[in-house]
Amino acid sequence: YDYCYGELEYRSLRFEEEILDTDNYQGNAVVNYNEYEVPYTRIIEHKHFEYGTQHKTVITKEYPATWHKGDEPYYPMNDEKNNTLYAKYKELADKENKVIFGGRLGMYKYFDMHHVIEEALKEADVTLDDIDVVGVTYGPGLVGALLVGVAEAKAIAYAKKLPLVGVHHIEGHISANYIEHPDLEPPFLCLVASGGHTHLVCVKEYGEYEILGRTRDDAAGEAYDKVARAIGLGYPGGPKIDRIAKEGNPNAVKFPKAHIEGAQYDFSFSGLKSAVLNYINGCKMKGESFDPADIAASFQKAVVEVLVENSMKAAEDYGMYKFAIAGGVASNTALRAAMEEACKEREIRFYYPSPVYCTDNAAMIGAAAFYEYLSGTRHGWDLNAVPNLKLGER
Ligand code: KG4
Ligand code: ZN
Repeated sequence: YDYCYGELEYRSLRFEEEILDTDNYQGNAVVNYNEYEVPYTRIIEHKHFEYGTQHKTVITKEYPATWHKGDEPYYPMNDEKNNTLYAKYKELADKENKVIFGGRLGMYKYFDMHHVIEEALKEADVTLDDIDVVGVTYGPGLVGALLVGVAEAKAIAYAKKLPLVGVHHIEGHISANYIEHPDLEPPFLCLVASGGHTHLVCVKEYGEYEILGRTRDDAAGEAYDKVARAIGLGYPGGPKIDRIAKEGNPNAVKFPKAHIEGAQYDFSFSGLKSAVLNYINGCKMKGESFDPADIAASFQKAVVEVLVENSMKAAEDYGMYKFAIAGGVASNTALRAAMEEACKEREIRFYYPSPVYCTDNAAMIGAAAFYEYLSGTRHGWDLNAVPNLKLGER
């Protein structure tokens, strides 16, 4: 609206990075500080988002910062002056047709958990009195987000005298398959591919998992997001690449597929991602044009082939005749089609969730909690967020 009523103010952040000569600084991905004397609000220790052994550690201290025009606006400033100003813009926005302003910056406010839950209950046409068990993800993930959920779940369970069941985030993704396929029973093999994970998991029993393979570097979804940014598609890159790849030639550019010596079920996507970025830079340097649809299709072909090859190898080696996919990338149309065909050739039954159950959602956590509850899992009031929780750990 051309700032017609003036400009909204925000709060920003400043980051300071340090490399420390220790293999572990705080034992945790994120620690928040709210003491007045401490100038930063949190310390992020990046290695706890990944698995592996690194001898040094990289930490980032996050400081609150005054926002100036041009800075990244991280948070709204919900004082009277700004709220009044926002209300005026909101009036203009309400007159727009088919435009929704969503999220912390778009709606210029923080969301409280009880409002979100109230909406969900209303949508499902139930009340808290209809609930038998409270399920919640307690890891892995960002500790701030996990703590909000765990605290809320404990409060509801305590107040309504209900059992509390904590579940692993990936267990949630896998369990998304049970929602629409009640006939799916362990044992089966599951490929979990999301923005943060690429895991090949053997589901031996409800709640009993063996990880056969995982990515050594980038997750599949992360590679999609980075390549999408390089060809100017924006975030989240997965669905956008999926769409334009349909108009491209998957054999236009031959990108490398990584197979890891001695770890046949593991994945690596950073080499492929770099190859795509190098190819684009090469074209730009030579002043040649490139077709984003061809790059998307060729990149996608390489990703899908590796995911299919490793999954089918594991299915054959472990004698699995049921195979499922899960996580955001599982909604990829090329991956679904290729997996379906590969499974059919081997007479393996193939399961996949609808796209809404592939990307992060609460229903999948509910499904996981349901089976955990049936097998006797209960958590106490001391349940805490575990940012680096391992699958199968209690
Ligand atoms: O499971 P998810 O919602 O969040 C995590 O737990 O990470 O997965 C998000 C990821 C993003 O990287 C997104 O680009 C990717 O899933 N994704 C897709 C598609 N839809 C979402 N990747 C490829 N093709 C898609 N259609
Ligand atoms: Zn997820």
